[in-house]
Amino acid sequence: MDISVKAPAKINLTLDVLHKRPDGYHELEMVMTTIDLADRIDLTEISGGIQLESTSGFIPFDDRNLAYRAAALLQQRFSVKKGVRILIHKEIPVAAGLAGGSSDAAATLKGLNKMWNLGLSTEELAQLGLELGSDVPFCVKGGTAIARGRGEHLTPIAPPPPCWVVLAKPQHGVSTAEVFGALDLAEKRDQPNLDAMVNALEHRDFTGVCANLSNVLEQVTLSTYPQVGKLKERMDTFGAEGVLMSGSGPTVFGLVSRESLARRVVNGLRGFCRQVYAVRMLGGLEAPLLDKIRT
Ligand code: C5P
Repeated sequence: MDISVKAPAKINLTLDVLHKRPDGYHELEMVMTTIDLADRIDLTEISGGIQLESTSGFIPFDDRNLAYRAAALLQQRFSVKKGVRILIHKEIPVAAGLAGGSSDAAATLKGLNKMWNLGLSTEELAQLGLELGSDVPFCVKGGTAIARGRGEHLTPIAPPPPCWVVLAKPQHGVSTAEVFGALDLAEKRDQPNLDAMVNALEHRDFTGVCANLSNVLEQVTLSTYPQVGKLKERMDTFGAEGVLMSGSGPTVFGLVSRESLARRVVNGLRGFCRQVYAVRMLGGLEAPLLDKIRT
């Protein structure tokens, strides 16, 4: 059986770091939402082992890859003797703050659950996903949610109103561990207003969503990579209605209500940033993301 699974990216509408935990991770409170920029994972059953291939040369093909680790985890935990060939059609920029690697892992878990008839629930897949990375549980579930803890305690909330998301990824990638490592929790920071964001989402208030975009990691990444600040300014100048860095960065996104405005912002970034995308929000999508099964 061959299975194709869609692996969409996420953006953070808010991100707050509450404190550092004894286990070394940070206690987070954030609003995440799925966007229509997706990798595609093709899974083909083979007699044994794990083979990974990708259309991108920028990702590892061994157990440093989260999709590879997802397959290895299922094989080990459920004594699966069969193997899989994983082909990752990469669209989501790498090391970008968009959870590309986590989403590939989540899609692999979902696809192999079907292919190997493991019968695991979404909740069980999300719990397994947490062993791979903090963003994997959200990627298993998708939609729009408040994420707490490391990112695994998820409360579904109203999706953003329909709009366009323009994304600009600076040439360099960013290590999440380094960004968290450089965060000084003793320093005063502008904390997101979670209630105001949730309220804006519930009322489908696009202006309110834009006004409450906030990410405490932005200042940390921006101080090392000034291009993040320049991209924000440029998006703002060309008419993005709300602008923020996603996750630990360095991708900057701009929210725009109209397609014509999205085009204007994209044009404004020409010659300034090579990786630019304009996609739609997917935050309300509840349907499972398996889009094709061939037997
Ligand atoms: O969980 P994941 O492997 O994606 O996290 C990568 C790194 O980001 C961790 O090793 C840790 O340094 C940092 N992190 C954190 N607190 C979180 C999530 C990630 O400190 N809640």
